[in-house]
Formats: sequence, structure tokens, C-alpha cells
Amino acid sequence: MTARHFLLDTDLTSSEQAALLDLADQLKATRRDRKPARRPLEGRSVALIFEKPSTRTRLSFDVAVAELGGHPIVIDSGSSQLGRGETIEDTAAVLSRYVDAIVIRTFAQDRVDRMAAAATVPVINALSDHTHPCQALADLQTIREIRGRLAGVTLTYLGDGNNVAHSLLLAGALAGLRVHVASPPGYEPIEQVVRHANEIGAVTGGEALVMHDALEAAAGADVLYTDVWASMGQDTESDSRALVFQPYRLDEKVVEAARPDAIVMHCLPAHREMEISAAVLDGPRSVVFDQAENRLHAQKALLSFLLDETTAGVGSR
Ligand code: CP
Ligand code: NVA
Repeated sequence: MTARHFLLDTDLTSSEQAALLDLADQLKATRRDRKPARRPLEGRSVALIFEKPSTRTRLSFDVAVAELGGHPIVIDSGSSQLGRGETIEDTAAVLSRYVDAIVIRTFAQDRVDRMAAAATVPVINALSDHTHPCQALADLQTIREIRGRLAGVTLTYLGDGNNVAHSLLLAGALAGLRVHVASPPGYEPIEQVVRHANEIGAVTGGEALVMHDALEAAAGADVLYTDVWASMGQDTESDSRALVFQPYRLDEKVVEAARPDAIVMHCLPAHREMEISAAVLDGPRSVVFDQAENRLHAQKALLSFLLDETTAGVGSR
């Protein structure tokens, strides 16, 4: 049997995504109530490969694997042969002989895809330059627990049309969300992603819209979202981007334009007074630490979905 991977948000169907979010909620409640938890990864190991820095993803996957009864092994390029040029394919083949799944954070999406093509165990994308699908699952869990639903919810994303924006567009479309992205000209999400999101949205009721005016995009939003202006790997562009992105800061004016009960999200790490004002990030509408917490629950659900025979394929059509 070929392994089931999670390389892109759309590797799940709408119904699988919904079932996975239900499982994430159950796992959250079990942990909160300190009920005995199932340990579907007992006796199994998961490699966590980081070619870029990480706090949340690294820690939440490590804890997720351990709480499911498995053994997490974290490696980074600096301390492995990946940093000395060993190919992704050889690494995938070797790791497949040791571990039951591979989680990888890297640069080009192509490296994630090549890892999956050469691995015989499930591969999970823990962020690439193109997408951040694990983040989007936790974000959807967060929105659903606060708003009570996902279909028809309007999420306005301000800033760079980056990996986080791409995953919000694709995962949001599967869930029937209306995702409005306001970016400076030249920094919009890539067209193919927007088109794909709209194709999915034609079935789910979702919508993907790219705009250039932050306040116009925020009007009537249920959720306001932003991310860093310069992503990992773009550090030399930080200063030039800071100028271009000024009009897209998520501040009190933007919050005023949204619905009165709008929530504020950020995948973190955040730069106060850059992409988001400190007052908004630390204010009463901010749910950023719920988002961060839900990484753990959503990823436990994902690992269970991919690796636990008793829940694997839950929600499959
Ligand atoms: N949001 C997120 O992925 O954070 P880390 O870079 O700390 O993993
Ligand atoms: N867009 C950011 C997300 C960090 C979690 C980056 O890629 O650096």
C-alpha cells in the first residue's frame, strides 16, 4: 500500500478535513479533562526534519508524537548529512527504514514533494516556501471553536501573499470560507493558488479574492489575519519590504473596519508595530495563543489520521 502524505492542504478532501478537525477537538478535550488518552503511535518513531528555524512546529510535533505514544526524533540540516549535500531522495530512503513517518520543514515545495516521492512512509509538510498546511488546520480549528462554523465565515488576510496565505486560501476553500487577501501589488498570492481555491470554492461555497486596499478588504470580516512581511529566507529584503507593506499593518483602524466581534489571528512569530500593532496583537480580540495551542491538537489528529489504522481514512469519501 502506498503511504498517504500531507504535502498540501488539498491532500485532504473537505469531508476528511472536517473529520480531522472533529478529532482535533476530541483530542483537545481529552487532554484538558486529563482523560486516559489512546496511544496509537506506541512503538513507532517519527522523524522531524527542520531545514529552517521553528519553535511552535518543532515543539508541538515533538509533544504530539510523544503524547500519542510514539518516539519523536528531531534533526536539522546543520547536524545531519542533509547540510552536507546528501540528497533528499537518499535521506527519504534511509529514514523510511527507521521511522514510521517524516515531518519536514524546508525551502522549496519541491523538496517536500521529492521527499514524499522517495519515501515509503507518510510525509508531512511542516512549512515550505509555498505552503504551511499544518498551520491552516490549527487555524481552522481555532476559528470553528470560536465562531461555531467555518462555511460562510469571512477571513481577511493582510500582507504578503506567502506560504501562510496560500494555505489559508486552499484549506479555507475546502471548508467553505471566504478568504480575502489584501497585498501590495507584486506581493499577491500566486494566481494558480487563487484559481485552485476558487475551483474548490465553487463546490464548497468558498471564495478567494485578492485585493489591494486593506480597509476595503477588512470591511465585514469575521477574522483578521496577518503574518510577517519577510519570511524565513527573505531576511535581506526586510527593509525594503517594511516600506512597501506599511499600509497593510493590522492595527486599530483595520479592526474598526471589521465586524464588531471579529477575531485577530497571527501564526506567530510576530513583530509588534511591523505587520501588527502591539495593541491589537495583545488586545482582547487576539486568539494567537489559541492558534498556537491548536497546532498540537490538529497535528495529533493529523498523525492519527495518517498512521492510526483505527482512525485512518476517517471522513474519506
Ligand atoms: N507558526 C509557526 O509555524 O511557528 P514556528 O516557525 O515557530 O514553528
Ligand atoms: N511566512 C512565515 C511563517 C512562519 C511560521 C515564514 O515562512 O517565515
